This record gives sequence, C-alpha cells and structure tokens, in this order.
Amino acid sequence: MAEHIHVSVAWPYANGPFHVGHIAGAYLPADIFARFQRLHGNHVLMVSGSDCHGTPITLKAEQEGVPTQQVIRRYHESFLHTFAALGISFDLFTQTYTDNHYAVTTDLFLRLQQRGYIYKQTMTGSYSEGLGRFLPDREVEGQCPHCGYANARGDQCDNCGKLLDPPDLINPRARIDGSAISFRDTEHFFLDLAKLEPVLREWLDGTDRDYWRANTVQFTQNWLREGLRGRAITRDLEWGVPVPTADAGFADKRIYVWFDAVIGYLSASIEWAERTGEPDKWKDWWNPGAAKIYNFIGKDNIPFHTIIWPAILLGVGGLNLPYDVPANEFLNLEGEKMSTSRNWALWAPDIQDRYQPDQIRYYLTANAPEGRDSNWSWAEFVQRNNAELVANWGNLANRVLNIAHKHFGAVPTPGELSAGDQALIADAEAAFTRITALYSAVKLKQALQETLLLSQRVNQYLAETTPWKLVKDDKDRAATVLFVCLRVIDTLKILFAPVLPFSSQQLHELLGYTGTISPQPRIAEARDKDGGTRQVLSGEYATGAVWAQSQLAAGQIIQPPTPLFRKLEESVIDEELARLRAAQ
Ligand code: MF3
Ligand code: ZN
Repeated sequence: MAEHIHVSVAWPYANGPFHVGHIAGAYLPADIFARFQRLHGNHVLMVSGSDCHGTPITLKAEQEGVPTQQVIRRYHESFLHTFAALGISFDLFTQTYTDNHYAVTTDLFLRLQQRGYIYKQTMTGSYSEGLGRFLPDREVEGQCPHCGYANARGDQCDNCGKLLDPPDLINPRARIDGSAISFRDTEHFFLDLAKLEPVLREWLDGTDRDYWRANTVQFTQNWLREGLRGRAITRDLEWGVPVPTADAGFADKRIYVWFDAVIGYLSASIEWAERTGEPDKWKDWWNPGAAKIYNFIGKDNIPFHTIIWPAILLGVGGLNLPYDVPANEFLNLEGEKMSTSRNWALWAPDIQDRYQPDQIRYYLTANAPEGRDSNWSWAEFVQRNNAELVANWGNLANRVLNIAHKHFGAVPTPGELSAGDQALIADAEAAFTRITALYSAVKLKQALQETLLLSQRVNQYLAETTPWKLVKDDKDRAATVLFVCLRVIDTLKILFAPVLPFSSQQLHELLGYTGTISPQPRIAEARDKDGGTRQVLSGEYATGAVWAQSQLAAGQIIQPPTPLFRKLEESVIDEELARLRAAQ
C-alpha cells in the first residue's frame, strides 16, 4: 500500500548562499530520502523555502544599504540555482514572504489565541536611543558581570559561556553603532508552552520513538527537564508578518521569525496544492495520521522542531505531527569549523558547476555528518571519487556494458546458471533487502556503504569469471556471465539512484531503457507578494514503483557506453586549497 510521506527541510535564511555544510546537513539527505520514497511508489511531498524574516536578513540589507526584498531575491535565486545544479527535488521551494504564508501564519495565530494558548504580557526590551528602536538580545553588547569580558552579548558571554539577559550587562550598548541602551517596558504575545506541556509530553511519550536519532532525543529531553515556560512570539520590529490584533502598540510589532518559519511547512504545502489546481490536496499529508512527516534539519534547530512546532500543531488541533526529525551534525572544512565571518566555507555556487553533481552528492553522503560531525577535505574528495565512485562503481558499469555492447550489442541470452552465478544473485537479493531497510530508516550513509559493497562484490565476480577472455574462448558462458552482471548492475542502478540520480538515469538509458527514473527539479514562476513575479523550484516526480530488483530482459539493445563519472587529477587538491586560501 502506497504511503504518504512529507519531507520538509529547514528554511534557510535568505542572507547568504549555501555552503556545503547546509547541503550535507539538510537538503541532500532530504532529497535522497524523498527520491527513495518516490521510487518506492509512495506519495511524497517535499517542501521548504527561503526564510525571509528575522534580523539576519534585515542586518544584511542595512549593511548593504539596499531594500530587504532585494537581499531576499538575490539569495533565494541563488538557492534555486544550487538546487537545480545538484538535483534537489523539491515539489515546492517557496519563501515566507508570500501572501499565502502571511495568511496561514495569521490564521494559526488567531486559532491558538481563540483556544487560549496565546497570552499578552509586558516584558523588558533593550531600546537603542541612537537607532530609535528595540534591539534583539544578541545585538546588545556590554561588559560581562561574571568575568568582566568587555564584549559580552546580551544573550551570552562568549568568554565565560554564561547565559545572560541584556540588563545583566554593565554599560550595555548597541552592537551596531555603540549607542546607549535603555530598558523599556514593551508588551508582547506569548505562546503558552506551560499550558501545552501536558499534551506535548503525552505526544512525545505516547509513541515509541526508538527510531529517533540519539541527538534529537537528547536535545528534546534537556529542554523538557527544565519545564516549559511561555515564549514571546512577537518582536519590536518592522519587518515580518504583522500581528493580527487591534490592540494599541502592535502596529510597530511583528510576529517572531521562528514562529512563522516553522508554519512554513504547512503554508508551503497549501501553496503547492493551490499550484497543482487541487487546493485541498495538502490535507492528504496534514490530516492527523494521514502521512509520515519527516523534518530534515541541522542539530541547532532541534527544539524548534520537537517542541515548539509540535506544540503549535497540538494547540491548533486537527493537524498531523512530525513522525521523525532526522537532525544532522556539522560538516567541518579541512579540519576546521566553517565560519562565514572568516569566510572559511566552501560555497555551493563556487563548486556546483566545476564537478558533476553526483560527485558532490557522493562525497557528501559517504561522508555525511550523520550521528557525528564530519569533515570536507579536498584530498579525500579526490581520493574517494577516484577509488570508490570511479574505480568501484563507474568502471564496473562501464566495463560490463562495453563487453556486452561490443560482442552482443544487446543483453545476452543466458545459459544455465552456475553455483557461483547463483551465489552472486543471492547476495544481491540479500543486499537489496538490507539497503531498502537502511533507506527507510534514514540511515543514508550506511545505505550507500552497503550499495558500494555490493558493487565490490560484482567486481570480485568479474575478476573470477573474466568475461573479457570468455568472449573469445566460450561465448555461451560469456553470455551467461554478462547477463548475470548486467542484472546486478541494473539493480545497483536503482539502489544508487537516490544518492546518484544523474548517473543512474544515464545508466538506465545505456541499458536500453526509455523513460525517467530520476526526474529533476526546475525553476518556475509564481506571483510575487509585491506584484510581479518571483521564482520557485518545483517539478513532476512520479516514477511509479520501480524500487525492485532488475528484470532486465535478454535481447534489450545496449547503447554505446559513455563513462558515468570523471576521474579527477591529483592537481585538483592544490588548486582547490589555493582557492580556499585566496578567499580568506
Ligand atoms: N532560518 C532558520 C535557520 O537558518 C531555520 C528555520 S527552520 C524552520 O536557522 F523550520 F523553522 F523553518
Ligand atoms: Zn563572561
């Protein structure tokens, strides 16, 4: 029975391009999982979009002296090009700055309020006289009351690590212009997490969650241990979703970026349904129990997805909750933490056109930050590309196709299978079952490892059977051996397809099939909030259920083989390292 699977991915702030850490942490694993589920014949809806609100965006626009919308458009379009280049197959990648998203956010706010989960309270805000506005905690600086550090931030001291509130600071000032801070009362709306805590705990404890990753469980437990308190969901800002209230003072306030961003999972699903002309279709994923919802995120976002977002959904009622929150760790670069401020980062737009997308996807998956931090090293990139992707898998497919094409022109007709042939087929069958289970459990790195082992196993079989000799001495036996190889290679094509969609599609065609097993996304247009048009990513991805072992038939015409992957010169390592250093 086909299932409904929702794949939602963290919404990136539209204030800079992607680096490979973003891709490895969330977008690529989400895409691999979505592709696996689609090949399985399940109904997948994969959505996300640019996070357009919050101070990261307005700060960038202020620094550059350009309108906020301009910054959003620039990086949103950069995201789309990276996704198109790397084959990240969103059903819809939209943005939070849309009429639809504003309407859905407003609606959820009002429903939570009607149900008594939102209250109003006065709090102390940091007001900059110089800038004439309230500042977020992290934009306030001053001396740390604990260690005396001169440049402690309003939320935390980077020197001694203590958590702070802005009024704790000695001589607080605005980070941007150094102007003095005064503390003023300001009224805000709060999400009543204390009131939602019992239903939230019931949900968290009510289901067996042993399939959640250890880090996801741990972060969540840590938050819950301290008990939940109400959290402000409005801010003294001019940029964001307006607060739906007639109460005095709220015309100058906006909904907090994190409250509206998580609602994006729902609003993007609604926008997708409207685009397809079946406006109610989002309910196939959002009615309670209708689908399994997977949120792919980085570890820094865990509590927002295991506590805040589920609390919002429970408070609103009648909506489906996340099934799993596969959170990844971080990817380092050449052994050091990536840092955008020091420009120690490998930017996706800088490499996406220099390498084949499957080369990048391969390395990022083989080396995924699943369960622990991992590292991008150019030496390892080249080495693994050449030894694993090219030598183990690409050459295998290429050699077998070449011999079969040259001596038979088509898939040869096998004779009787030997014990050795049957052993390979049995191994392939067992591997297929194991790999399927690993993909289903979002163990993508292991799924890839096992697939490579199967490829390795076929290489061994080739070395033992030597079909390149048999074609001269015993053509009938050669036909059988090549038939067995082609069948397993055809199965490997499917097993690799979620991770390596471009080369699997190429191999599909070389094997003489028509049709698409790896559909790719495309950039399309939508109506912009300010009138005019904006770009989105979308696509048509239904392939039918093709996740099965090969049924490749004798007689199918094999196309003239072309290599699947490019071997990389060792010189690439120094060139790339020099590029990184030059950018510093
Ligand atoms: N924009 C946030 C960040 O980059 C992530 C938002 S994820 C969402 O950290 F799910 F809440 F949208
Ligand atoms: Zn300190």
